[in-house]
Amino acid sequence: MNIGILGTGVVGQTLAAALAEKGHAVTIGTRDPAETMARETAKPPARVAYRDWQRANPSVQLATFADAARSADVVINATSGASAMSALESAGANALGDRILIDASNPLDFSKGMPPTLTVCNTDSLGEQIQKAFPRVRLVKTLNTVTANLMVNPGAVNEGDHTLFLCGNDADAKATVKRWIGEGFGWRDILDLGDVTASRGMEMYLPIWLRMWGAVGSPMFNVKLVR
Ligand SMILES: NC(=O)c1ccc[n+]([C@@H]2O[C@H](COP(=O)([O-])OP(=O)(O)OC[C@H]3O[C@@H](n4cnc5c(N)ncnc54)[C@H](OP(=O)(O)O)[C@@H]3O)[C@@H](O)[C@H]2O)c1
Repeated sequence: MNIGILGTGVVGQTLAAALAEKGHAVTIGTRDPAETMARETAKPPARVAYRDWQRANPSVQLATFADAARSADVVINATSGASAMSALESAGANALGDRILIDASNPLDFSKGMPPTLTVCNTDSLGEQIQKAFPRVRLVKTLNTVTANLMVNPGAVNEGDHTLFLCGNDADAKATVKRWIGEGFGWRDILDLGDVTASRGMEMYLPIWLRMWGAVGSPMFNVKLVR
């Protein structure tokens, strides 16, 4: 499969490495490929500069947001929440078309330091804003409630016995993504929360997720919905 990942941060890098290892053709999208490759230092929370990561992962291509989306069967949004809309706008509605768009982003605003605040909440969400701005895209919100390393390796915690949330308006797209991340990464307990408005809760979960990170001392944790 051709996979376009919008985002050069730790989420983009982690998903790209895992997917490339499974034999997918992965293109990462960025604002300016030359500028991204020229950066000498990592942008936290990424630990390595993108160009060093790229050298270690030569099969992954780097392109503009638009080219990464245009060449893909499936697109993943792994851009910062504050910039997601502008990154998707530069990809463009034509390049995104009616593709499945997996949205792993969170609308976190770090501009006033820690803890971050949510740029949108309660009666709206970033997932909904993206779906509204790109109505043809089949958005599936998922993966945003776990740290990057756990996204691709749920078995690293509690032998994979914990819950991943998912939502979106398109039932076929959700079934495809559910199967894809289940078979691809090993997620066994994927809970469909309904239409895209469930993005509100999935994004508003981040403040408690951040407190749990502080309390546990590591981001390698998750919750399990016990029925
Ligand atoms: N870190 C985690 O473990 C984790 C877990 C779950 C969800 N998430 C969510 O996943 C998303 C990605 O997180 P991350 O830590 O990997 O990366 P990030 O630092 O939040 O975002 C990096 C990406 O955002 C783009 N970007 C930044 N400012 C921009 C602007 N003004 N216009 C267009 N694009 C811009 C960057 O573009 P360039 O490539 O051009 O610099 C880069 O590709 C976030 O929404 C985050 O909340 C993160």
